[in-house]
Amino acid sequence: MVKIGNIELPDFPLLLAPMEDVSDPPFRRLCNEYGADLMYSEFISSEGLIRDAIKSKAKLDIFDYERPIGIQIFGGDEEAMAMSTEIVAAVKPNLVDINFGCPVKKVVQKGAGAGVLKDIDLMVRLTEACVKSTGLPVTVKTRLGWDESSKNIEEVAERLQDVGIKALSIHGRTRSQMYKGEADWRLIAAVKNNPRIHIPIFGNGDIDSPEKAVEYKNRYGVDGIMIGRAAIGSPWIFKEIKHFIKTGERIAEPDMKERVNAVRKHITWSCEWKGEVVGVLEMRRHYANYFKGIENFKPYRKLLVSLMNREEIYETLDQILEEYPQ
Ligand SMILES: Cc1cc2nc3c(=O)[nH]c(=O)nc-3n(C[C@H](O)[C@H](O)[C@H](O)COP(=O)(O)O)c2cc1C
Repeated sequence: MVKIGNIELPDFPLLLAPMEDVSDPPFRRLCNEYGADLMYSEFISSEGLIRDAIKSKAKLDIFDYERPIGIQIFGGDEEAMAMSTEIVAAVKPNLVDINFGCPVKKVVQKGAGAGVLKDIDLMVRLTEACVKSTGLPVTVKTRLGWDESSKNIEEVAERLQDVGIKALSIHGRTRSQMYKGEADWRLIAAVKNNPRIHIPIFGNGDIDSPEKAVEYKNRYGVDGIMIGRAAIGSPWIFKEIKHFIKTGERIAEPDMKERVNAVRKHITWSCEWKGEVVGVLEMRRHYANYFKGIENFKPYRKLLVSLMNREEIYETLDQILEEYPQ
């Protein structure tokens, strides 16, 4: 068992990474059905939350079926982070996660996200401010460091643990790398192997198959792994990895019925949560992923992204099922 404060997770938990515009409640519900053990909201701006921004508030929507669930916040100001931790705690997530890893310019320029990687003292103060303002477990997600010459994650891990975080997720890249190159898990393993570290350490970066999950589990000894991009359009990756860990065998690739079922659920829940129009429009970015690798699928994909009406989408999904033999 892995414990984050009072939250009990199974051995070697699989986490769904926080992803802006992706890890919303409909998508999380799917990942939860496929066995994700812990999930996070999209990141929420602390300043936005305090200003009562509608988009930020919508990200506070969590549901009992998806527990344990963490809400992730970011910001560069201690007072704003403390206040937004209180706002987040009021909706009763299982934990509050702080993002110190977002490499996007508009976030970094405000001294938030990965911007904080340049100032560890500030990072520690921001974290402490959050920890002190809630009784919920506070966790952190970050990167190896700002750039190649400042990979300070080992020091960061100790200092954040000292101010009370209950778990740390590490993306094996620096801010400068953005998403380029290959994630380097060696420093993640160094943090995990530090005898002073007693909180769970979750590895993140480039896990995209059951084989790689097991290889990295064995090679780097982390307490669990966090999966981002590989879950987009493939929420079944959690089930695939769990099965592989348990049996050493792969389950069959999802057939068309499984893909269509996942899309049907995703769009249904999206429309329920976001309303019909937004639900249909935002679903468009997902079709290519759900049907990746299917031969001659382009005409259907083009059709799916042109439809405005949910019923027509359901009909098209039925046609797809008829056309592609199982
Ligand atoms: C579309 C997208 C949105 C993301 N949004 C967030 C976010 O809101 N908060 C965060 O901590 N990381 C965010 N990330 C980073 C991921 O959580 C993760 O660290 C990164 O994708 C590496 O993991 P992967 O190789 O499994 O995708 C995002 C990544 C992507 C691709």
